[in-house]
Amino acid sequence: MNHVRIADLAACLGQEITIKGWLYNARSSGKLLFLEVRDGSGIVQAVVAKNAVSEEVWNQAAALTQESSVMVTGTPREHPKRPGVYELDVRELDIVQLAHDYPITPKEHGIEFLMDHRHLWLRSKRQHAILRVRHEVIRAVRDFLDNDGFILADTPVLTPAACEGTTTLFELDYFDDGKAYLTQSGQLYNEATAAAFGKVYCFGPTFRAEKSKTRRHLTEFWMVEPEVAYATLDDMMTLAERFLSFIVARVLERRKEELKLLERDVTKLEAVTPPFPRLAYDEAVKMLRAAHAEGALDHDFEWGGDFGAPDETYLAQQFDRPVIVHRYPAQVKAFYMEEDPERPEVALCLDVLAPEGYGEIIGGGQRMQSYDKLVQRIADHNLPREAFEWYLDLRKYGSVPHAGFGMGIERCVAWLCGLEHVRETIPFPRMLYRLRP
Ligand code: 4AD
Ligand code: MG
Repeated sequence: MNHVRIADLAACLGQEITIKGWLYNARSSGKLLFLEVRDGSGIVQAVVAKNAVSEEVWNQAAALTQESSVMVTGTPREHPKRPGVYELDVRELDIVQLAHDYPITPKEHGIEFLMDHRHLWLRSKRQHAILRVRHEVIRAVRDFLDNDGFILADTPVLTPAACEGTTTLFELDYFDDGKAYLTQSGQLYNEATAAAFGKVYCFGPTFRAEKSKTRRHLTEFWMVEPEVAYATLDDMMTLAERFLSFIVARVLERRKEELKLLERDVTKLEAVTPPFPRLAYDEAVKMLRAAHAEGALDHDFEWGGDFGAPDETYLAQQFDRPVIVHRYPAQVKAFYMEEDPERPEVALCLDVLAPEGYGEIIGGGQRMQSYDKLVQRIADHNLPREAFEWYLDLRKYGSVPHAGFGMGIERCVAWLCGLEHVRETIPFPRMLYRLRP
């Protein structure tokens, strides 16, 4: 038997081949059975004609239930009325396993039910489309960075210290060393590899014990983090806009079908080209205060605070592409941020806010270069100095200006797919109230 994947059917028109998959859906019309078979690469309609198959094959086809595993042998041909769509005229059919009462039926299910059955829900068309976009985003991320001279240098998942504040650490016992933490970001290690290789990135799972139940927060998410030696905040703004524009263009080019299935308005994504608007935090605060004065925002915003989701949404709505907000007050940012030499109270940092209310998808900036100032920051943030000695070494032995950022894959995918919530952008999401399946 000649096994062919559904995606490759066009190359075997007129030849007898076998599809190995699962029954997605079926309908009958008298002496014809229409079986929608999926195999992960696509879905094909297999047509069983009563007068063209043995009685046994006919009976087996009629007995097939949703998600039964099945091998179908027949001859592919182009659909008579839909060019580019293929059907299979069935001759033979082997049931591998008959499924009983598949829980996810074509009727509507509540989100909790679907999340409880995530291991099966992944088989549906919509989830399939989203996860293919995710794969494309990850491929684009790698292609962009690999072609731009970056070296992939993996960073550890088990770490002795916090990178992004001590309130969201997942802690575990680590033999005689005492406590270890799941990494919140590979950045600190990226700074070490950047001093070794110049331009590096890490890409892996990161963890935050976020107690907030929002549309944007997972407790386990994947982050890609480029880091560049001899680079400044301005360099990161340029890198971020080139990087994001490349990813968006790639997904628009290669995942048209998926975006269509998701009913994504792609005109909004087509606008995502450099340059992105750049907005100093101070300017952003003025805009928020003016919006409040006009009644467009409920609360008044004070200089010095961090933006909440409504603030980010309002700011992003003022632009047709992602907006880069830079120079936040140092007090709302992590300990490692470089200060603006002209105004030490603000940090040389950037956040990229996605359009359409998707919020911050990139965060980063320039890193503190001075040994003495970094020692002071570690003390000011009540961080254990001994866990950071190695990190301080980077400022003792050839310290240079350097900068980087991190992009959360799930937030990026949620935005590109136009999803309500990040939970569908990863095969098995981990959230405050969700550890299963
Ligand atoms: O802004 P964050 O916290 O930045 C860092 O971790 C830096 N150390 C990165 C760096 O400079 N190398 O997180 C970066 C991005 C956010 O913009 C967001 O896209 C994503 O990571 N992110 C989350 N995504 C899903 N769930 C969460 N709980 C997230 N927290 C951050
Ligand atoms: Mg951030």
